Amino acid sequence: MTERQLPKLKDFLPLLQPNPIIWDPTERRLSKAHKIEDLRLIAKRRTPKAIFEYVDGGSEYEATLRKARYLFRQLELVPTVMVDVENVDTTRQILGKPASYPWVFTPTGVTRVMHHEGEIAVARSAERFGVPYGLSVISTTLIEDVAKAAPHGRNFLGSGVPADRELGKKLFDRAKANGFEALVVYVDGATPGARLRDRYNGLTIPPHPTLKTFVDGALHPNWWFNFFTTAPISFPNVDIPPGGSVHEISSQLGNPAASIKDFEWVVKEWGGPVVAKGMATAKDARRLVDAGAAGVVLSAHGGRQFDQGPLPLRALPSVVQEVGKEAEVFIDTGIMNAADMLAAIALGATGVFVGRIYLYGLMAGGERGVDRAQEILTEQMIRIMKLMGVTSLDQLTPDHVILP
Ligand SMILES: Cc1cc2nc3c(=O)[nH]c(=O)nc-3n(C[C@H](O)[C@H](O)[C@H](O)COP(=O)(O)O)c2cc1C
Repeated sequence: MTERQLPKLKDFLPLLQPNPIIWDPTERRLSKAHKIEDLRLIAKRRTPKAIFEYVDGGSEYEATLRKARYLFRQLELVPTVMVDVENVDTTRQILGKPASYPWVFTPTGVTRVMHHEGEIAVARSAERFGVPYGLSVISTTLIEDVAKAAPHGRNFLGSGVPADRELGKKLFDRAKANGFEALVVYVDGATPGARLRDRYNGLTIPPHPTLKTFVDGALHPNWWFNFFTTAPISFPNVDIPPGGSVHEISSQLGNPAASIKDFEWVVKEWGGPVVAKGMATAKDARRLVDAGAAGVVLSAHGGRQFDQGPLPLRALPSVVQEVGKEAEVFIDTGIMNAADMLAAIALGATGVFVGRIYLYGLMAGGERGVDRAQEILTEQMIRIMKLMGVTSLDQLTPDHVILP
């Protein structure tokens, strides 16, 4: 029989204390996000549909993106219990220098369209968290301005193999003069992937005002207000005028004639570390390392290019075996949390490149949103390492992962 008593005011009153009120609307919004998928949903609410889908979508059937994310959710990580995990070290050497965490913000284009704070916000957040940022050649902010905004950041330049060597050389010289440390060269851009959502949405960069746009304006007034009251969208680092579909803009940057000889030229011309991004097999990783790559990113371009290729995580062990002693091996595509990163590292990766993770954060709340994305990852990484019984990333081995 339960003994009962009359409720006493002194026990009851403390329970009536309200939670602290967060007055700032951005902070309030971001404080409710506890995983990257939450930031994605906030981003979706706050950004015009065509812009959100440009980031969120993939090519063709979007099978690669879906399968890559699903593979991460299906794998199992093997824990060890009863070990001292009081202090956990998340640092990693990336291209020979320490990074506070094992992720790199991968190059993504046209960032100021997603949120007016754009590349500057991303570079600052990367600097604050001690991780490298790759500025895309098709960025909407000058190389010089990014260098000024994040002078202590580790900035990389993301580029294709330039079709025009003179222009390419000038671009590389500017990046080097501004302290950019490494070049990330995408090698999977023979032709732009078919991003059907952009076609259905009729997306142009910058977006054209249409009847649909006006309806959207009512739904996303903040985005449109910021869009119209900040500098017009342009691609100031390359000789491409804005205007046209994303496909048309990407085509102008493409170099379908690029071969491994051109990649060798890029390595020689850059003169510092070059990371090749976008191969799918150990054989191609070998060709690129033999041509001078200091690192390779096993990448399906976020599922935005070739939609029928192998998933990076599956190919990872064979690539590590083939080139892991001579070059740093990274992966990208579909990574949404720290467990995904730990699995990749356990299978031999130096670290991971992530794109949508920071873009969802940016669209959800500008620079503070990118910070929130990194806070979530940081917290996840420390927690999961403790639950796995590892205190440093070097302790992870393939035995920690069970792949389906
Ligand atoms: C919106 C968007 C724009 C991108 N633009 C570029 C680019 O300009 N250059 C490039 O090499 N890769 C680009 N990528 C591909 C990323 O560098 C990277 O391969 C991909 O985002 C990784 O997958 P994740 O988004 O699932 O992390 C872009 C990706 C997204 C989502």
